[in-house]
Amino acid sequence: MARAELIENLNRALSLELAGVIQYSQHSYLVTGTDREVFKEFFRDQAGEAQDHAETLGDKIVALGGVPTVEPSMIRQSTDLKEMLKQDLELEREAIAVYMAAWASCDDNDLPQKFWLEGQIADEQMHIEELEKLTSERQARVNSEKIILREVS
Ligand SMILES: [Fe+2]
Repeated sequence: MARAELIENLNRALSLELAGVIQYSQHSYLVTGTDREVFKEFFRDQAGEAQDHAETLGDKIVALGGVPTVEPSMIRQSTDLKEMLKQDLELEREAIAVYMAAWASCDDNDLPQKFWLEGQIADEQMHIEELEKLTSERQARVNSEKIILREVS
């Protein structure tokens, strides 16, 4: 039963990664203005990473005896860069929650699957932290009294 639950969770993760490929790609097509210079490549890179994760998941699901889904989860669309980044953060947060659920559904002694999932979870957390910085949800807590200003002589 644990294996069926693991496969189900991995298929939920695959749906999210497939949505990521499409969502990040569309964001790369739609971003305009001077932001395009930086964010077109950023979104394309993220789409590529989602594709890599999807392939790993598909291979893993078959290795466990399951059938990989062909259904992407909900795809969020926008033409506004800030909104795009918020939407991508939401998608990444959904993905990490599903990877953690997959980890929890592993048998206690199934260390190879757990170690593999821990690597995936660490990757997703890095994406989340970067997107939190890009949306300014995550910032260094700066105590202005402790900032050392260099004097210009
Ligand atoms: Fe991912």
